[in-house]
Amino acid sequence: MAGGGFAVNGDVKDFNGGRMTASVVITCIVAASGGLIFGYDIGISGGVTTMESFLKRFFPSVLRKMSNAKQNEYCVFDSQVLTSFTSSLYIAGLLASLAASRVTKALGRQAIMLLGGATFLIGSAINAAAVNVVMLILGRILLGFGVGFTNQATPLYISEVAPPKWRGGFNTAFQFFIGIGVVVANVINYLTSRIHGWGWRLSLGLAAMPAALMTIGTLLIPDTPTSLIQRGKIEQARLALQRAHGPNTDIESKLADLVAADELSRSVKEYPYKIILRRQYRPHLVMSVAIPLFQQMTGINIIAFYAPILFQTVGFGSNSALMAAIILGLVNLGSILVSTFVVDRFGRRFLFMQGGAQMIICQVAVACVLGAKIGASGEGTLSKAYSGAVLMLMCIYAAGFGWSWGPLSWLIPSEIFPMEIRSAGQSISVAVNFAVTFVLAQTFLAMLCHFKYASFLFYAGWILVMTLFIAFFLPETKGVPLESMHSVWKEHWYWSRFVREGKPTCMP
Ligand code: BGC
Repeated sequence: MAGGGFAVNGDVKDFNGGRMTASVVITCIVAASGGLIFGYDIGISGGVTTMESFLKRFFPSVLRKMSNAKQNEYCVFDSQVLTSFTSSLYIAGLLASLAASRVTKALGRQAIMLLGGATFLIGSAINAAAVNVVMLILGRILLGFGVGFTNQATPLYISEVAPPKWRGGFNTAFQFFIGIGVVVANVINYLTSRIHGWGWRLSLGLAAMPAALMTIGTLLIPDTPTSLIQRGKIEQARLALQRAHGPNTDIESKLADLVAADELSRSVKEYPYKIILRRQYRPHLVMSVAIPLFQQMTGINIIAFYAPILFQTVGFGSNSALMAAIILGLVNLGSILVSTFVVDRFGRRFLFMQGGAQMIICQVAVACVLGAKIGASGEGTLSKAYSGAVLMLMCIYAAGFGWSWGPLSWLIPSEIFPMEIRSAGQSISVAVNFAVTFVLAQTFLAMLCHFKYASFLFYAGWILVMTLFIAFFLPETKGVPLESMHSVWKEHWYWSRFVREGKPTCMP
């Protein structure tokens, strides 16, 4: 392959696309801000759905049920109507991410990100002005489209633009922005919950801020060279490459590689969702489903939900929810930064396995403490000391997630697919992420109510399975240029039997 300089034994030797320029850094940061809207929504919806004025207006029956609820520690928040409101966004996001694959081909990655920002913007306006449940749901569907489009395009954008040597670090910026979105939303909820009657409108409406920020930012960056070439814009691709690699770098061989890969991918005429089913793409298909599925099965969103209740038990009083969110949010942000600096040095597999082991230990320990102290009846209480211990464990768990399954679940799908199935593969990944989030959100509260502390063991079991999966089935992709990714499967003890067959895979 022209200009690659990549040695198959895994070392990256002076790859010509390996320079880090200011332009690349700024472009990737702007693109990663796409994570803001996802994070903002994750952070804002939980708080809004506990605001009394919001419930009174849209879900009065939930409010009545809550005030009559039998005070079992595990069952207080079990309400299907409310969860279905929250998770309606994920169904819309799922559909949008699947559609995004097609739209990308015609319009490019940047356009999808713009579309995502704009739909999210409109959704937040409708939500802020909602006078009935229909408006509320319509707004949420638009937010879902926004997040679906953005989450599909942004990780791919970063991986296509970042230098291979630092691709992992750059890509963690997406998760970092998700984390910032969550923290900002929690602070806003804390402030607006004091505004009687219409605080929820402000919370929902302020979603327009991150959406505007990312939309304007996206207008200022170019599309990725790969995406431009796919749409026949060779001259623009040359300019984008030159801008990314700096004025004194020879980008012609890199351009030739991209053009050749594009031609190869054009020779595959079938529909991408059909191509990915071919035997030679089996590892890609498996990863596109397994990685997002496993990310959700770590139970991260469940921990995020349960933490405020524990903070209350520990005695933080009325500020408890904010405290919980902020402490966990900050631990989360810090740990993502660890990933940023380590992922291209120690590799993806190391972080996945270390983070996995850390999370398993914490989940088992939490289950033991809750089991021993609150018991199966749910009527016991935690002393301050035990609550403190549980919270500490949750923070250690959140850190483990923050440098492993959090950012890496967006990174891996963005870097493993060859060009002819890249958009489709990423769409499947995002759709699976949303589908599983939806199912877990719908079932977790009922599960906590029935299985009690054993729910935590359930997730620990899953983390054990996924850690073993990584150990046996995920090849290391650290430093490998996208155009050489084929080699990691070819050298893998299991996947080699699939990828050796068939036509050579198209690259960048
Ligand atoms: C996950 C979300 C999760 C968030 C937590 C993301 O990578 O996909 O489900 O809520 O991380 O920060």
